Amino acid sequence: MKVLVLGSGGREHAIIKKLQESPEVDTIYALPGNGGISYDAHCENINPLDLDQAVVFALKNGVNFAVVGPDDPLAKGAVDRFVDAGIPAFGPNAAAASIESSKVFAKNLMKKYKIPTAQYEIFDSADSAISYIETMDRFPVVLKADGLALGKGVIIAGNLAEAREGVHRIMTERVFGDSGNRIVIEEYLTGPEVSVLAFTDSKTLVPMVSSMDHKRVFDGDLGPNTGGMGTVAPNPFYTEAMAARCMEEIFLPTMAAMNAEGRPFKGCLYFGLMLTETGPKVIEYNCRFGDPEAQVVLPLLETDLFTIMKAVAEERLSEISVTFRKGAACCVIAASGGYPGTYEKGFPISGLEKGQLPGVSVFHAGTKRSGEGLVTAGGRVLGVTGVADTLREAVNKAYDALKGIEFEDMYYRKDIGMKALLEINDEEVWGVPR
Ligand code: AMP
Ligand code: GLY
Repeated sequence: MKVLVLGSGGREHAIIKKLQESPEVDTIYALPGNGGISYDAHCENINPLDLDQAVVFALKNGVNFAVVGPDDPLAKGAVDRFVDAGIPAFGPNAAAASIESSKVFAKNLMKKYKIPTAQYEIFDSADSAISYIETMDRFPVVLKADGLALGKGVIIAGNLAEAREGVHRIMTERVFGDSGNRIVIEEYLTGPEVSVLAFTDSKTLVPMVSSMDHKRVFDGDLGPNTGGMGTVAPNPFYTEAMAARCMEEIFLPTMAAMNAEGRPFKGCLYFGLMLTETGPKVIEYNCRFGDPEAQVVLPLLETDLFTIMKAVAEERLSEISVTFRKGAACCVIAASGGYPGTYEKGFPISGLEKGQLPGVSVFHAGTKRSGEGLVTAGGRVLGVTGVADTLREAVNKAYDALKGIEFEDMYYRKDIGMKALLEINDEEVWGVPR
């Protein structure tokens, strides 16, 4: 089989490395891929949003199956286009991808089908949004641009002045462009956050091992939000009882709601949950694997990924059993100093061979080939994942591997996994679902 993967991040590298393990997969193409991916797949410099070119490339090269990694080509209908061209594909069609591409759609869906989420109101003008905020007596309040905003469209405003400024940034200054045509203003929730990715073919839904993202740039969860600075799996806050409750109150109702709306979801559905005192609530849906959640979840997957993806595309997910290995994984992101703000690129990366330790995978995100070697080419540069029997060992492996890797201005958090280790009381044996 010839498989094409659309995308260029660490998530796509994790998908590609897993697909390589499949006996059915002979050749992998990546559009456009990145420096590290180019050692594992044939990369072609085609923009994943240029769907005409992507389809032409796939047809010309006899691609048998396509996997669409990022949210924006999914929202643009990449899967619809491959399927129309006779190429089966993994991922939701554009109608189903709305669950991520429009927060207004997602919130209204949850309200209509009674899926627990933060209370909210929607506004299409800055004036009406501000009038509403002025009636509020409880802060913080959460402001969300309706559309895709590279994971940055959320503002947590601590008081009225910050909330006013936030509304103006989104709706008047339009810092997220058209994504700010509408705004969701929602209740601020507290509690541990959990990411649960699930395979679904719209008839069956199979949750993967849970994970925990570390979204803020600095240790101790300080500083601005990023795409994610590190992850661990499983997430110890997500007990077996909680998993059962989420399945019943959130996961299956979401799948049924999408069917009822005539937008059956096929692919990887990502539930961003907050475990509040009054129960689990949905913070956000994503229509794709998380990044860097994929870099801890996929290394723990035992079942052949290609077999699962094909079963999802053919709506036969109920026929296969999906299992994860016992143990834990930890991914630490090595970023360019300055990220998520401005940073320099083009620095040579050294010591990658030192990262080749047993139980360690180095997933590339912002890297580019230059001469014989690789240079930095983005904010998140590498994701270094350790897999082991216990979380403590997995964390140690990831950090040991990182010690050998260097590039100018390299920055990484030193506390990935700390919160999870404290929760499981250090060396305690895992008692969480997988
Ligand atoms: P999102 O882009 O929707 O994942 O939001 C980014 C981050 O903002 C989440 O991971 C949460 O930490 C935080 N957040 C979003 N919505 C809320 C909320 N209603 N209450 C508290 N925190 C939130
Ligand atoms: N790591 C969060 C996301 O992929 O949206």
